[in-house]
Amino acid sequence: MAKPAKKSEETAAPPVSEILKEPAEIKYAHELEALRQNEKDEVPAAWKLSPRSVLAYIVGTKKPLTATINGAQVEVPITRKFFGDDTIVERSIVTLASERALLLVGDPGTGKSWLSEHLAAAISGCSTLTIQGTAGTTEEQIKYSWNIARIIAEGPKPENMIASPCMISMRKGAIFRFEEITRCVGDVQDALVSICSDKAIAVPELPGDAMVFAKPGFNIIATANARDQGVNELSAALKRRFNYVHIPVVADQKTEVEIVRTRSKELLERYKIAARVEEPVLKLLATVFREMRNGVTAEGVNVQKPSTTLSTAEAIGVALDAAIHSRYFGSGVVGADSIGRNLVGSIVKEDLDDVKVLKEYLSLVAKKRGEGDAQWKAFYEAAISAIK
Ligand SMILES: Nc1ncnc2c1ncn2[C@@H]1O[C@H](COP(=O)(O)OP(=O)(O)O)[C@@H](O)[C@H]1O
Ligand SMILES: [Mg+2]
Repeated sequence: MAKPAKKSEETAAPPVSEILKEPAEIKYAHELEALRQNEKDEVPAAWKLSPRSVLAYIVGTKKPLTATINGAQVEVPITRKFFGDDTIVERSIVTLASERALLLVGDPGTGKSWLSEHLAAAISGCSTLTIQGTAGTTEEQIKYSWNIARIIAEGPKPENMIASPCMISMRKGAIFRFEEITRCVGDVQDALVSICSDKAIAVPELPGDAMVFAKPGFNIIATANARDQGVNELSAALKRRFNYVHIPVVADQKTEVEIVRTRSKELLERYKIAARVEEPVLKLLATVFREMRNGVTAEGVNVQKPSTTLSTAEAIGVALDAAIHSRYFGSGVVGADSIGRNLVGSIVKEDLDDVKVLKEYLSLVAKKRGEGDAQWKAFYEAAISAIK
């Protein structure tokens, strides 16, 4: 009798505490479970939650939900994951409940992948069936490939087929995520046309015109950068099969501060860094990003814009670097000076001329503000000496 295969140490999933980045459905499992227990609406076929609960999971609820988690009755707060216009999230959910696939378009760092992950986690309970589009993505990676050694030995059999994340989603009736779709070449993108319209993949290598059909619950969330250079625009055929939802750069400063606050706190917890970015420092960081991005200051002074996109994600990165820096090499308090020191790398990326742009901002705006404000003074001095 054959012995059962021993689970090797490499393949066994590590305990949750040993996963560097838990997928949303694991990290927020208690929230998803609380929403499930409090479900009052009809749940679409093969969805884990009703559209209303999916929305609640992504935009948060005012009051915590009472639920039984691990046998104990507890109050579970549903936190806001995506900040911004809630109608964007609503439209995305409506699309996913329809025949059409969803394309989230926008500037880099506006939270497209983040929203896509949370949508998949709430709707299918699985956000990891994902392909990252690149110039080298092939049609096989979207559909299926073969275990060549076994094909040679045994010929094409269903067991010798290697299903793509897309095919697995179809079989499970789950959401498939396609990141950065416009970085793939047109021919590869067009492999999705038949998947979107027929909801099936033909496997001509197998006998009897084999087809893999999608179960209810299958749909696609793709993301695309509006700014990316060398993008391959979707073909007209594919465009028709997607609903476009545009994700704008966060419009108001209060929301941006909130995003940077919550996300940097979460990331610092993940890396077990005991440091905190105080409110005035967060505000200063958000102000610098906003003013340089818009090319105009709060006082109405025009400043040059750098060529890099100053996204919210970049601001989170600066806050995080500053916090890690102060934890290991400073006092542990994230001051405006740490922000100044860590800002340069995120503004000067593509174009060295951006150094000039930053210098102009510093001497025109930050220096002046520093005359009456200790935070701005510390920021100015640290940033200017980091450039030199
Ligand atoms: N509107 C937003 N709401 C919540 N988080 C956001 C938002 N915009 C950006 N972020 C954060 O910025 C980071 C990068 O976002 P990401 O989804 O990777 O951007 P994109 O895919 O649009 O390039 C994530 O940590 C995300 O949490
Ligand atoms: Mg992305």
